[in-house]
Amino acid sequence: MADREGNIDAKDFGIGIPQCSEGFFLKGNAHVDWGMKDRLSRIFNPKSGHTVMLAFDHGFIMGPTSGLERMDLTIVPLIPYSDCIMCTRGALRTIVPPTCNKPISYRFDAGTSILTELNDQVLQDIDEAIRVNASLLACMVAIGDPKHEGITIRNLTKTVDLGTRYSIPTLGVTAVGKELVRDARYLSLASRICAENGANVVKTYFCNEKFEQVTNSVPVPIVIAGGKKLGERDALEMAFQAIDQGASGVDMGRNIFQSDSPVGMILAVRAIVHDGVKVQQAFEIYETYKNEHK
Ligand code: 5RP
Repeated sequence: MADREGNIDAKDFGIGIPQCSEGFFLKGNAHVDWGMKDRLSRIFNPKSGHTVMLAFDHGFIMGPTSGLERMDLTIVPLIPYSDCIMCTRGALRTIVPPTCNKPISYRFDAGTSILTELNDQVLQDIDEAIRVNASLLACMVAIGDPKHEGITIRNLTKTVDLGTRYSIPTLGVTAVGKELVRDARYLSLASRICAENGANVVKTYFCNEKFEQVTNSVPVPIVIAGGKKLGERDALEMAFQAIDQGASGVDMGRNIFQSDSPVGMILAVRAIVHDGVKVQQAFEIYETYKNEHK
């Protein structure tokens, strides 16, 4: 207990100096609670305003996806290079070292697999997300899927309500069915619906035309999924274009862990996302790492 005897009088009140009241660096999140800002600042680098999230939650609908057969061997070595990891509770408890100290984008919904119809999702218990110290609750939203649009929107609103109660932000993940076109019109509609329903961050796909329209029509940060495996240069080009057109980061899986040099690739993606390097320079980072670690 502080000693009451001989205390020095308090006198440095900074009279005349207005109290600093810092804004918040992340689009659309200036008015959320302190706890949310703390979590978001662990995911997004406050200097660059950007993030490189490593996604390896594919198994929850796809089973042992190529590159994720043995996540202890392929994913754990990549974790130190990420800003945030996106995974299921199963992956967390079985292979992710709790000592890695990375913020977790927690797969909060669970649902049907690729063997039936996708997007029939349910939510987990918020207690579980709190137990694993989640920094972000990821919830899929299937806009335009006549059978599952309603249920996934309800899931999103429930996730936002639960997350708000405990200051855990929500990531709205736009799912695109086979029959829907991933163009700017669809992606901005789906992403905007996520934001309007309270998502603090939206994950969607990149599109070659008018992606700027997507980032500009959504009032919260957008991170892009990588999608199916591309050639390394093409994947870096996509990351560059996305950041250049207003994305706040990537939440990338297959284009990193299915690369012939996953560490080289994540280093190259980081250089684009955080340091603003051009595609050629990023590609050289990937190639150099690959050649030096054969
Ligand atoms: C599925 C997801 C995946 O995490 C997402 O697709 C990212 O992985 P990839 O870059 O391989 O597409 O959110 O709903």
